[in-house]
Amino acid sequence: KKVAILYGGRSVEHGVSVNSARNIYEYIDKERFEPLTIGITKTGQWHLTNGVTKDIEQGKALGLILDAQHPGFMLLSSGDRMKADIIFPVLHGTDGEDGSIQGLIRAMDIPMVGTGVLGSSISMNKIVAKKLLKAAGLPVTRFLAYHYTEQAEISFKDVKKELGLPFMVKSASLGSSVGVSKVKNEADFDKAIAEAFRYDDSLLIEEFITGREIECAILGNNPPEASNPGEIVINKKYEFYTFDAKYVDPEAVRIDVPADLGKKSAEKIREVCVKAYQALHCEDFSRVDLFLTEDGSIYINEINTIPGFTNSSMYPMMWKERGVSFTDLISKLLDLAEE
Ligand code: DAL
Ligand code: MG
Repeated sequence: KKVAILYGGRSVEHGVSVNSARNIYEYIDKERFEPLTIGITKTGQWHLTNGVTKDIEQGKALGLILDAQHPGFMLLSSGDRMKADIIFPVLHGTDGEDGSIQGLIRAMDIPMVGTGVLGSSISMNKIVAKKLLKAAGLPVTRFLAYHYTEQAEISFKDVKKELGLPFMVKSASLGSSVGVSKVKNEADFDKAIAEAFRYDDSLLIEEFITGREIECAILGNNPPEASNPGEIVINKKYEFYTFDAKYVDPEAVRIDVPADLGKKSAEKIREVCVKAYQALHCEDFSRVDLFLTEDGSIYINEINTIPGFTNSSMYPMMWKERGVSFTDLISKLLDLAEE
C-alpha cells in the first residue's frame, strides 16, 4: 500500500513536524507499506521529496493536489497522476492539525490517519475545546477568553481578581507552547497579551495550576484504548513546559513512562482521558495532556490530535511501554485509517 506522509507545513511547528515525520518514515513497516513523502514548505508549496528532509524545495513540485476527474489521485506538475492509498498527515498546528488539511483529504476521497474535520478544528482551538470539555462535565481550569476586538477590555486587575496570580496567557490555537506566557505580575502582562495575539485573533487566560504534567496516549475508536499515563518532570529553571524545554534543551525534562501514580489515580486519569477524546470527536489517535494536583484533582489541559513523534515525544514512548513498538504503532494507525 502506498502511504503519503505529509509533513512540514506553514505552521510554527514546521520543524517539529519534520522531526516527527522523519521517525514515521524510518519506522514504517516497509514490507507492508510504501511511503511517499510529501513536504509542505513554510510558505505552502507541496513537493514530493526523497525521504523526509528539511530541504523540501529540493523535491519535485506537486501541482494540483486534487484531480477532480480521478478521486484518490494527486497530480504532479508534470501532469502525471499519483495515487496514494492512505494519507498520514504528520503535521502539527495551523493548517495541518486544525481540520484544513483533513477537509482537503476528505475531498480527495483518500483514507486518512487521524481525526476528521470536526474533531481537528475543535481540538485545535483551546477556547472551543475547553468549553466543550466543560459541557461534557470534564475538569478544566478556570479561564477567560478574548477576541482581539476586545483587547482594550483586557485588564490585568480584572484577570488577577478572577484567576489569581500567576496565570497563563495562550494563543487560542497553536501548539508546542508557541504564543504561551506565564504572567507573574503586571509588568509581564502587556507583552504576554501581544505575544498571544501575534499568532491568533483570540486568546485565553487560565489560572495557573501547580501540579504534575501528565499525558496519556489514546489509540483506536471503538472503544478507544488509553496507555498508562506518563509524566514530564520539568527542571525547576523552567517556569512551565516551554518550546525550548520541549525540543531544544535536552536537560530540561525527565520523562517518566509510566508515571509514578497509584493504581486508582492512573485508572481515573485513563478514564477521564478517553472521555475527553470522545467529547472532542477525536479519531484513531490523540494525546491528552493534563495536570494532576497534590490533592488528586485532574485538569485537562488540551488534546493534541496529531501528537509529536519526535525523539522526545511521549506518544510513541507511552505505547512502547505497553509493548507496542514504533513500527507496530504506525501499522495500527494506518490500519485504522481504512476502517
Ligand atoms: N504539538 C506537539 C507536536 C505535541 O503536542 O506533541
Ligand atoms: Mg501539550
